[in-house]
Amino acid sequence: MKNNFQRFTFALGILFLVIPETNVLGDDHNPQSTATILVGSEAKAISADLIGIFFEDINYAADGGLYAELVQNRSFEYSRGDNRAWDSLTAWSRVGPESTSTSVTVESREPLHENNPHYLVLRAEREGDQLSLRNEGFDGIPLVGGDTYNVSLFARAMSGTPGPITVRLERVTGEKLSEITFDKLSGSWTKYAGKLLPAIDDSNARLVVSTARPGVIAIDMVSLFPQNTFKSRPNGMRRDLAEVIADLKPRFVRFPGGCVAHGDGIENMYRWKDTIGPVEQRKAQRNIWRYHQTMGLGYFEYFQFCEDIGAKPLPVVPAGVCCQNAGNYLNLVPKGQRGIPMQLMPEYVQEVLDLIEYANGPVTSTWGAKRAEAGHPEPFHLEYLGVGNEDEITPAFKERFAMIHEAVKAKHPEVTVIGTTGPATDGRDYEEGWKFADAIKLEMVDEHGYKTPDWFWDNLQRFDGYSRDRSQVYLGEYAAHDRDRGNTLRSALSEAAYLTAIERNGDHVRLSSYAPLLSKQGRTQWRPDLIYFDNVAITPSINYYVQRLFSIHGGDQHLPTTVSVEQNSNEQGAHLDSIRLGTWNSQAKFDDVRITQGTDVTFNDSFDQLSSDWNLNSGQWKVADGALLQTSDEQPAVIQYGFPADRSGYTLRLRAMKSSGAEGFLVGFAATANNEYMWWNLGGWGNTMHAIERFREGGSSIVGSTAQGRIESNRWYDIMIKVAKDRIQCYLDSRLVHDVAYEYMGATLQLAASCVRESSSGDTILKIVSNASHPVNTTIDLSSLGSLGDLATKVVLSGYADAENRHGEPAQVVPVTSTISISPTQQVEIPANSFTVLRIHAP
Ligand code: AHR
Repeated sequence: MKNNFQRFTFALGILFLVIPETNVLGDDHNPQSTATILVGSEAKAISADLIGIFFEDINYAADGGLYAELVQNRSFEYSRGDNRAWDSLTAWSRVGPESTSTSVTVESREPLHENNPHYLVLRAEREGDQLSLRNEGFDGIPLVGGDTYNVSLFARAMSGTPGPITVRLERVTGEKLSEITFDKLSGSWTKYAGKLLPAIDDSNARLVVSTARPGVIAIDMVSLFPQNTFKSRPNGMRRDLAEVIADLKPRFVRFPGGCVAHGDGIENMYRWKDTIGPVEQRKAQRNIWRYHQTMGLGYFEYFQFCEDIGAKPLPVVPAGVCCQNAGNYLNLVPKGQRGIPMQLMPEYVQEVLDLIEYANGPVTSTWGAKRAEAGHPEPFHLEYLGVGNEDEITPAFKERFAMIHEAVKAKHPEVTVIGTTGPATDGRDYEEGWKFADAIKLEMVDEHGYKTPDWFWDNLQRFDGYSRDRSQVYLGEYAAHDRDRGNTLRSALSEAAYLTAIERNGDHVRLSSYAPLLSKQGRTQWRPDLIYFDNVAITPSINYYVQRLFSIHGGDQHLPTTVSVEQNSNEQGAHLDSIRLGTWNSQAKFDDVRITQGTDVTFNDSFDQLSSDWNLNSGQWKVADGALLQTSDEQPAVIQYGFPADRSGYTLRLRAMKSSGAEGFLVGFAATANNEYMWWNLGGWGNTMHAIERFREGGSSIVGSTAQGRIESNRWYDIMIKVAKDRIQCYLDSRLVHDVAYEYMGATLQLAASCVRESSSGDTILKIVSNASHPVNTTIDLSSLGSLGDLATKVVLSGYADAENRHGEPAQVVPVTSTISISPTQQVEIPANSFTVLRIHAP
């Protein structure tokens, strides 16, 4: 064995670390840590549309949520396809005694409209028969005493002289709150409408439809709408919820999804034409999130809502393919991505062009006229069009996307078409999506990322490295997923830190939207979300306040912002690091493992025998023919060697050869006493790519970008990992594969900051995010900016890292606003776990 280790010492002193504009890791246990934020004067124009929202009908966001309709299953179209437990009478129940001379059925001959095939039939044969049906609303019907409610239904007398129809609002006890009667029923479908006026509040009322005289009546589209909708729009939005959304001041709204947009199978794609016109003629359909979409909130209402909240519309149409996860529920459709048959694609492409005409065309155009008919002759000013949602990048996708893209660009060069790079921040679809975007010179791609809070902090440099010659970026869906998917302050701060990086890259990252937006209590399929609600109350998460602060304190110019942390190297001392060798469901051999620290080779093993310095964690390891062999299928199989290290880092070199199996090699480094470490995963993900993974607090995240690549069997690879004070570089056969900023032996204190200018007000806005567990005395140096006002509005979000604003409980973290005086060089104490906005008012 040639195994030699040299002890070494290192000097104590003050370390001064500077990383441009991004996170700096310091000593979390050192209350004396201080920081300096230096703002330069060279302004760069950034997107004015940076912060938007993404609305998808998930978690009952639309029906039962933002869409103000209070009757559930109003048109009797619920079915088992929506949800295994449902049928056309779900949410309805009979009231009072049943007799053989009465019946309640759902039928479909001569419907109100072909898109609305089912209706209710009430049959009473004898004088004195009573028939009542009660609707429970969406978990009850909330009523405000003194408010007016518009009630309507369609009815048709099928035989006899049935009626009158009485619609009443009542309490769960049966006590009447308000009532209206419709008589003289026509023999053809006719709309009956009126008003209900409950005098008192009831958060859990019911709506009851009754008839008394013998005869048969068909009833459909039983609707109850508060008159008091957002901006008093008919068929509009729930006012309080819409107001909380409007308060975000989003620059754009992406809609209608998400997975909802590309749908659970081709038939389930969201087709905009099915969602406009009279609500009783719209084509309801099952929701991929396992409930029902009435389409009452359809394209007209989306456009109108955007206008009402001052946001640009960003509709997403399917790229001619359905969701790649189709068919996972009830086996209703074939599994996987499917494309619209090519012979039908020209018609589909025309549908996309018609959407642009519907939004922007003159009232004299076919679709512009339909917009005018709906009450909006003025255009909706569509600038952005999303095509596809995190699709699998397949030949079928590419072929269809290219057809749509070409047609839109040919007819509407003014519209920005946004493509997709798949569901994740890396991986096959991400790589292929980018290649495709390059090939067709796409203006913008939509990137998605649901990651741990650590991932966001670890990837603040991500967009710095994006080539400005490639497509611009829309970060269309992202959220920090903390333990148990909680909306913790920790998660919100990591998003805030990421948003500082997005502002810095706002010349290239043009749009961003957190996802999902809304979540109804007890009706949630996905967490975390931005806003939680029930029928009467709304809880903005801490993450909501982060979005709002970035939105209302956004700017149009970014100023270079440098963060530095001073930390005492006494507390940064040596620790025991370890390297790891490993495999994942693969067999391999390793040789000539060497660690160099400074100029000294401090460890060297060419495996004459298996030294006891190596700790076997998992797998089958042995030395044979002068190399270290791993022969099991373990996932992972790991062997480990520990050694003392200091902040200056080290270089690890080795040779490795795969003999068989599904993947390549794992080479670990940068371990800490808390059992945190990283490994370079070569030929991971089914031998498709290489990436650095960081293991921390029981989870892992990819650090930096991934690289496509595979590991071949039966050939030696030279692997080198340089762990330096402020970066990690990974080489394969002398080729640099990854180069990521990383503060070796830094603790968990991280600061991020970004400074912008708002031209309209002349204000300068500095945002600072800290995840330190103690306050950090920070010097803010604005002296290069010339004359600034001397007053600043300061807004702070802070608390303990696990804090959450839970629905039904007092909020734990809300913004606290104050006014402070400010000078060109200012001392500020940045609180522990905080997001601070300083808006320095123009003089
Ligand atoms: O935001 C929730 C879902 O996440 C979206 O529907 C989908 O696009 C993504 O997978």
